[in-house]
Amino acid sequence: MTDLQRLIQRNRLSRRGFTAGAAALAASPLLARFASAQTPITFEEGAEEELEIFSWWTTGGESAGLDQLFAAFSAGSPDVTIINAAVAGGAGSNAQIALQNRLSGGQPPDSWQSHHGKELFSLYVDPGYAEPINALWEEQGWLDAFPQGLIDQVTLDGNIYLVPVGIHRGNVMFYNKHVLADNGIEIGDSLSVDDFFAAADTLKAAGVAAVGLGDKDTFAAPQFFENTLLGALGPESYLALWAGELGWDSAEVTAAIETFARALDYLNEDHAALTWDGAMDAVIEGRAAFTSMGDWAWGHVVSKGVEDQIGYVTHPGSEGGFVTVVDGFTLPMNAPHPVNARNWLRAVGSKEAQEVFGPYKGCIPARTDIDASLFEGYFSWSIDALASVASVTSLAHGSSASPQLRQAIFDATIPFVVDRNVEAYQQALVMAAEDDV
Ligand code: GAL
Repeated sequence: MTDLQRLIQRNRLSRRGFTAGAAALAASPLLARFASAQTPITFEEGAEEELEIFSWWTTGGESAGLDQLFAAFSAGSPDVTIINAAVAGGAGSNAQIALQNRLSGGQPPDSWQSHHGKELFSLYVDPGYAEPINALWEEQGWLDAFPQGLIDQVTLDGNIYLVPVGIHRGNVMFYNKHVLADNGIEIGDSLSVDDFFAAADTLKAAGVAAVGLGDKDTFAAPQFFENTLLGALGPESYLALWAGELGWDSAEVTAAIETFARALDYLNEDHAALTWDGAMDAVIEGRAAFTSMGDWAWGHVVSKGVEDQIGYVTHPGSEGGFVTVVDGFTLPMNAPHPVNARNWLRAVGSKEAQEVFGPYKGCIPARTDIDASLFEGYFSWSIDALASVASVTSLAHGSSASPQLRQAIFDATIPFVVDRNVEAYQQALVMAAEDDV
């Protein structure tokens, strides 16, 4: 057993709140193989006593993944106390507000979670909260280890501001295999919109909620909508919409909204009371058949040890696109513990950390030099898709639109789930886009 493996094990066993599901995970042969892929990461000397890390990773798969990153850091800095400042709430709904209060008050943590693209630039770079980390990228050889397209989306005016740790796919439809089999429904390599609605009708007739939604999390319905838009428009027009080249008043958008409204006819009754992971639990327990969600939901499935019971396919009609949701970590201006903050980034950017993080978190590594043979099942499906279909941005996770437009679309989507007024919703989207210019 290597030093890092020992540390990972100690970390697992000593962490309070360690669940039975996570224990099952630790015993998984797949993850044992990941854990053995570790080599030491060289750290800068002069560590301070503490390291405070801010994220919104609190659910089963999220916190299990975060623990892997903590372990990778602790392997190089075993005496540093890590303060986990995570704030619960899917897609960072609460965390981003709490973080803005801290940043504007001059109280940054040592590093915080951000998505790539517009969210990073608008919330953290433009106000001057994030420090460029070009020197770290050069020192670690990361310019050759990450895809250029991704580097471009964490770079502004020649300065790099984020270390990506993993890539999620946002447009995945997870389903309960037993519920579908019991109702004679088979899912192939992809799922058309017509086949989805045929399945939904069969399930409805059998008294099963076809669609599990957890819109207590404000991002969940907008995410369903963006996946529906991608399915209806295809990747090219979807990107044209976010680029302002296709109008929100177009007939294609009307058709997508109609499909979204139709899908909402099949919702679980308790959708407003559930968070995204609650909706995934509803699918796991057979109270709903499908849930459209990013693959952090696969991390949730893994944390419960029920991978064999849950199937996955792209959101209906969206197989030609990969909604790319990238998580990464920043370096703040005036980090309270700057040596630890830089060492944290060295750790999370390493090949070794990314190979162990993804299987718990439900994502694939952001680096391209990972050992792909280590990734099986869901993960090899996702790696192959990223290499072969069009990569597109996400509204719900910050990369498609400004924070203002994102919020305006969220605000319009919440009432639509209840009233399903297609015309009013489309009008609200048109106005939100106009106001954003
Ligand atoms: C996304 C984030 C994921 C996952 C998800 C649900 O915004 O990129 O890592 O945490 O929210 O909370």
